[in-house]
Amino acid sequence: MTTFAIVLAVLLATLFAAALVSRWWLRRAMLRPVRPAVAGAGADGCEGCPQVSLMAAAGGGGGGTSGGGGGGKKSRNLPDRRSFLRAGLGLSAFGALGGFGAASIAFLWPDLRGGFGAVFEVDDEDALLSEIDANNGRLSYPPGRALLVRYDPEDDPEGQYAELTDDQNARILALYQVCPHLGCAVPFCDSSQWWECPCHGSQYNRWGEWQDGPAPRGMDRFRVEVGDEGQLLLDTSEIISGPSRGAGALQQPPEGAHCV
Ligand code: FES
Repeated sequence: MTTFAIVLAVLLATLFAAALVSRWWLRRAMLRPVRPAVAGAGADGCEGCPQVSLMAAAGGGGGGTSGGGGGGKKSRNLPDRRSFLRAGLGLSAFGALGGFGAASIAFLWPDLRGGFGAVFEVDDEDALLSEIDANNGRLSYPPGRALLVRYDPEDDPEGQYAELTDDQNARILALYQVCPHLGCAVPFCDSSQWWECPCHGSQYNRWGEWQDGPAPRGMDRFRVEVGDEGQLLLDTSEIISGPSRGAGALQQPPEGAHCV
């Protein structure tokens, strides 16, 4: 179900509920039984009983003629102004809460149509590896906010990233492009072959493992899998925290000058 369909369903349900409540309330107010007005003393044989006008019984006040004056005829019991305003306020609050709830659901619901939060079928893995090699060791994948680098299980003998790489079947690591310090986008430094954040100088090796700077950990990442036909599946439904400082697997000193 798409986000749009969910929002539409919630809004329609809210409007339907509001219509039902208002209809119930109006019927209840209109059909409330009204005692016939006592036209005058002595109508029921009670001499000296106070006279009660139909308008007073209906809460209408004033001296108008609506309500079928005199003679014991039943009147439509129209809601008084205070009740009407109270009901209107209640319905407005109900509608506002429904709208707010729908907007919240729409905001929090993962975009399953293919936006960030979905599982992407990126491309054939071999083709991606060729692109990574041709692009100086990394590839950006904007729809998934991911940075793709080559992953070699021989550099990860203890299988630290096995869970992220389909039990080391995948040959690609997918890093989240956002710096875990304060959220800047992290560019690749072509000379050092590290990720180097221009905001406060955090540095990470090619696999996004912390090397220097104020960042509390290595770069966050995503799970990948290799599909039946060799395509890389990138799962952005969960952002996996990067390894803690000093917990990296890749031995990769800077290969040239730093950029920050
Ligand atoms: S945001 Fe990257 S080092 Fe501060």
